Amino acid sequence: MKSIKLIATALISVFIGSCSSQKETPEAIIENKVDSLLNLMTLEEKLGQMNQLSPYNLEELAKRIRKGEVGSILNVVNPEEINKIQEVALNESRLGIPILVARDVIHGYKTIFPIPLGQAATFNPEIAEQGARVAAIEASSDGIRWTFAPMIDVSRDPRWGRIAESCGEDPYLSAVIGAAMVKGYQGESLNAPTAIAACAKHFVAYGAAEGGRDYNSTFIPERVLRNVYLPPFKAAVDAGCATFMTSFNDNDGVPSTANSFVLKDVLRKEWKYDGMVVTDWASALEMINHGFCTDEKDAAEKSVNAGVDMEMVSETFIKHLKQSITDKKVAMETIDNAVRNILRLKYRLGLFDNPYVVTPQSVKYAEKHLQTARTAVEQSAILLKNANQTLPLTDKVKTLAVIGPMADAPYEQMGTWVFDGEKAHTQTPLMAIKQMYGNQVKVIFEKGLEYSRDKNTKGISRAVNAARQADAVVVFVGEESILSGEAHSLANLNLQGAQSLLIKELSATGKPVITVVMAGRQLAITKEVEASNAVLYSFHPGTMGGPAIADILFGKVNPSGKTPVTFPRISGQVPIYYAQHNTGRPANPTEMLIDDIPVEAGQTSIGCRSFYLDAGNSPLFPFGYGLSYTTFEYSSLTLSSEKLTTQDSLSVSFTLKNTGHYDGTEVVQLYIQDKTGSVTRPVKELKRFQRITLKAGESKQVSLSIPVSELAFWGYDMKFEVEPGDFRLWVGTNSSEGLTKDFSVSAL
Ligand code: BGC
Repeated sequence: MKSIKLIATALISVFIGSCSSQKETPEAIIENKVDSLLNLMTLEEKLGQMNQLSPYNLEELAKRIRKGEVGSILNVVNPEEINKIQEVALNESRLGIPILVARDVIHGYKTIFPIPLGQAATFNPEIAEQGARVAAIEASSDGIRWTFAPMIDVSRDPRWGRIAESCGEDPYLSAVIGAAMVKGYQGESLNAPTAIAACAKHFVAYGAAEGGRDYNSTFIPERVLRNVYLPPFKAAVDAGCATFMTSFNDNDGVPSTANSFVLKDVLRKEWKYDGMVVTDWASALEMINHGFCTDEKDAAEKSVNAGVDMEMVSETFIKHLKQSITDKKVAMETIDNAVRNILRLKYRLGLFDNPYVVTPQSVKYAEKHLQTARTAVEQSAILLKNANQTLPLTDKVKTLAVIGPMADAPYEQMGTWVFDGEKAHTQTPLMAIKQMYGNQVKVIFEKGLEYSRDKNTKGISRAVNAARQADAVVVFVGEESILSGEAHSLANLNLQGAQSLLIKELSATGKPVITVVMAGRQLAITKEVEASNAVLYSFHPGTMGGPAIADILFGKVNPSGKTPVTFPRISGQVPIYYAQHNTGRPANPTEMLIDDIPVEAGQTSIGCRSFYLDAGNSPLFPFGYGLSYTTFEYSSLTLSSEKLTTQDSLSVSFTLKNTGHYDGTEVVQLYIQDKTGSVTRPVKELKRFQRITLKAGESKQVSLSIPVSELAFWGYDMKFEVEPGDFRLWVGTNSSEGLTKDFSVSAL
């Protein structure tokens, strides 16, 4: 076996030697190496490369690696074990191909950042990139070189627990934040030891699971797919994302793992993608349950023929594809292409040259990482309400009641998809308030409820007593981490357990009540907002949630997060999102609601408009919403021209003034409406945003520019183009307010 490997290595070196003499590009050199290696491989070894395992027994794994039956593993995180596994792969398998080691590092490895939805709330791609970089540095120090992130499924339904992992409801925001994460994970160059390959997932439309129930079918027509669900994935390709993962859902009857339209026509042909595509966990096998495949062999064939390269854990490829080749159900060229994509990635990652983990020093929880995570929380927390400037707390507050099941819940505040973060390293708000502000206020802590779902109300009276003794009350409510994430869908978006009652009782004390929500999704908190003087919403904030939130409460940090999703008033309004299309009968703001309707009202007496009698149409908080301790004023909106051609670029400028008493950061947002199209268009679409920091009283001229080509969409003829016509534009502080101007676009 050794001799074959030596010949193989020699052949490759001779080949490289001859290549380098022709001064080939690094990519061309890699292609040559891939082809040389492929030429040496048996069919069994090729199928082995296409096989990813989550090993339960390392001895068993070693045996299979020796036989060339494994290309990648996930869920091994011990560097010594990983090095042993690589040793077996390199020295004891026939061709010595290194193993690609993967792990779900979704919002941090050890240092846990806010959940991706919280990172999106920063509207700050730089912080998302830094977060992914920190995750990559920490994860690679244990030998992980591939993560299954970012998750860039546009999601407009908070019943779907996986909205926590997403960047929210907007294609543009998801594209910008997702691309930043790709850059962060992969770093400057994939072959640097701290780079880990990113994975754009889940391809595609998974976020549209019907009814918000996880894994459910989706029915997204091609035009919506292209206009809404695909753009973040295209942005990931453009950012150089090394891998893609198929999704669990079937869209219009076709499971994504066998959808050659998206995997081949769009991803490979249109987008010219040369990365690697992996199935989701057993999603090939699950096509039998879907009723799309008759058996394992059928599932394997449909997957590879549709364009999948690697199978995660269900082993239908390795078991059946040899026979499929004999049966001529799968072409050898299909297998070769898949293996090329896999080997190319291994070369790009530098795994052949540096297969082993070298961990010279511990980078986990490095001070710099913790500080970056803290900044991420500071920028992601959203101030939803602040009546009479309840926040920040002033020195008039001598005694502070800290209440609630999430005040000191280190595990829960990390959120979903935390396999490696440790609660012992998590800093909770209670800890931080005591530690950082304990000399300024007396803190009385009462949980009130043991955990978020707790219905036992016996602790509430103690919480109320604590509130009575205090000058202000901060109540931490929300969701335990298990309530969001994969397979954790909810039909009811109200606060769980007796949390709502807790807030009501605290509010009845007459003390100022500040509600801090830590959750994995936007909840329906209408009553709780009414009962509170101030509300701060922090999607599960991770390791450094405590200090960041404490600094916001005490005014050292001025909140600047904005909602990356629309908040419903009640669950039944879902799906609710700002970029909706108009109906022929849009509701008026003055529409009569259920309690105002006279008894025995005539059928058409209240008008016939599109809205809910019991909730209206407006959300509790619109997309892009978030207050600050200061106030911002927008004025003097001007456009470079109000008559543009499809070849022009539009420059938008306006004055932003900090009119309040605090320095602060505003996320300025630019929305566009294409008034009439060959198909109906969203009433608004986010096209640009920018964080602008201003000192109290300071003004700034802000300029945003957008090429008219970015107004293109997939219209009636399924062509991606700008349709000449009339447009409206807004700049403002959220998706439902702003200065506006009209402009038109004509063909050249
Ligand atoms: C999830 C993926 C994840 C994979 C590996 C699946 O159940 O859908 O998002 O990356 O498991 O853990």
